[in-house]
Amino acid sequence: MSRVLLRGVRPYGEGEPVDVLVVDGTIAEVGAAPGTEADEVVAGGGAVLLPGFVDLHTHLREPGREDAETIRTGSAAAALGGYTTVFAMANTDPVADNAVVVEHVWRRGREVGLVDVHPVGAVTVGLGGERLAELGGMAASAAGVRVFSDDGRCVDDPLLMRRALEYTKAFGGVVAQHAEDPRLTAGAQAHEGPTAAKLGLAGWPAPAEESIVARDCLLAAHTGGSLHVCHVSTAGTADILRWWKARDAGGAVSAEVTPHHLLLTDERLATYDPVNKVNPPLRTDADAAALRQALAEGTVDCVATDHAPHADQHKDCEWSAASPGMLGLQTALGIVVRTMVRPGLLDWRGVARVMSERPARIAGLADQGRPIAAGEPANLVLVDPDDEWTVRAAELASIGSNSPYEGMRLPGRVLVTLLRGRITAHEGEVRF
Ligand code: DOR
Repeated sequence: MSRVLLRGVRPYGEGEPVDVLVVDGTIAEVGAAPGTEADEVVAGGGAVLLPGFVDLHTHLREPGREDAETIRTGSAAAALGGYTTVFAMANTDPVADNAVVVEHVWRRGREVGLVDVHPVGAVTVGLGGERLAELGGMAASAAGVRVFSDDGRCVDDPLLMRRALEYTKAFGGVVAQHAEDPRLTAGAQAHEGPTAAKLGLAGWPAPAEESIVARDCLLAAHTGGSLHVCHVSTAGTADILRWWKARDAGGAVSAEVTPHHLLLTDERLATYDPVNKVNPPLRTDADAAALRQALAEGTVDCVATDHAPHADQHKDCEWSAASPGMLGLQTALGIVVRTMVRPGLLDWRGVARVMSERPARIAGLADQGRPIAAGEPANLVLVDPDDEWTVRAAELASIGSNSPYEGMRLPGRVLVTLLRGRITAHEGEVRF
C-alpha cells in the first residue's frame, strides 16, 4: 500500500489549508489528518492544489524527430509543467495514421510512465489531405484513439472534413482542426498586418483561419459530429465561436487557445528571431486581448500548449527557412497565471477548468480533470501561486530549446505533480 500525504494545501486555492491523503493512487481523505502516517509527506505551506493538467495539443516528435524531442523528454517536460495527460500530435515520421504507430506511441508513453500519453490519430493518410486514414482502426487499437487531427496542416477539403466528422461520431471521437485555408496562406511568414508589411514578410490573413472555423462549425451541426478548433488565434474566430455557442445548433464545438497567443504579439517579430515564428502566427494586441476575454467567458474552452520543439538547426537560421513552433509545456501555467489569474480574468477554479476539466471532457477521459474529493483518482498538481521563476531554455527538459520566454520572470511554480498517486515531479526534479 502506498500513502502520500499532502499537508496544508488549498484545493482550488480556496479556504483554509487542509490535508489530502492519497492511498494507492486514490484520494482517500480531504480534511485534517493529524498524526496520519505516510510513505511520503509533502509540506504544502498553503499552496494551491489543482487537478493535474491535460494538454490536448503536444508535439512529442517520436517517432522520427528524436533530435527535437522524445516521448521520454517530452513527458518529463509535461510532468514538470504540472501535466498528468498529454495528447501527442500525429505529425511524426512515420505519421500516426494507423494502429501500429499509435500503439507504439501509447506503449512508449506507458513505459516512461510520467504522464498519460494519448496519441492523436491523423485524419488523412500521411497528412496528405486526400484520403481518410483508418480512423476506426486507430479507435479500436490498444491506444483507443478518440482525438484525430492533421495538425500542422488543415483538412481543407470540406467533403473529407464532413466524412471525418460523420465517421468519428460513430465511436465518440472528435476532429481537432488546424484551421488554415492553404490558398490564403501560401508563402505566409507572419500575421498579415502593418508589422509584416514593415518587415517585408508575406502575410497570413486572419480570414484564412476564420473561414475554416465557420465552415467547420456548420459541418459539425449538419453531421452532429464533434469539432475541436486548435490554437484559436484571432478575435474574429472568437466572435464566430461566440455566435456559434449562443446558437446551440447541434453538433459539438470546442476550442483551445495557446499560452503564446494569450501573451505574445507580432511586435516581437521586429528582431527577426525565429524563436517567435509559430503557426498560426503571433497576432496583434487586440487579438490577444480578445482571446483572453474569450477564455475567461468560456467561448474558448481551454488552454492547450501546442508544445512544438525543434532541433537547433531548424531555429538557428534565417526567418523564412526556420520551422514554426515553440516550447510550451513547462511555461504554460506561468503564462496563464500572468495573463489570466493576476489580472483577475480567472480564479484558480477557472484555471482547473481551462487546463484540466474541460480538456479532459473534450477528449472523453474518465479519470482526468476530476474533482479533488475522496474516492477520486489522485491526478494532481500543487502550485505555489506567489513564487516567481526565470525561464532558462537550456534548463528545460525538452531537447529543443526554442522557448520564446528566455529570461522572462513567470509567476506560479509547480511544486509537485502526482499521476495516480505517484509523484512524477517534485521541486523541479523528475521522478522517472
Ligand atoms: O507552429 C507550429 N508548429 N504549428 C503547427 O501547427 C505545427 C507545429 C509543429 O509541428 O512544429
